Amino acid sequence: MAKNFPHSFIVCECKHVSLGELLYAVKEKNAKTLKDFVFFTDAGSACKYCTCADNDKGEKKMDLYLSQILDKFNK
Ligand code: FES
Repeated sequence: MAKNFPHSFIVCECKHVSLGELLYAVKEKNAKTLKDFVFFTDAGSACKYCTCADNDKGEKKMDLYLSQILDKFNK
């Protein structure tokens, strides 16, 4: 992630899930996959545009995807 996002940044607009909630899922719940994010936060369970750039069919592209968050921690 080249840019810094505040914890309040909404990553999944459908389910209104913030970066802070997703980071909590990674650090405290050991979320490692998109399925884990759905399970712990509901993020990515509706339109799925927020999951990764390839799935983003919206006119206005998202600034941050769930896959980028996972990539940062799954190294
Ligand atoms: S923006 Fe995340 S499921 Fe639609």
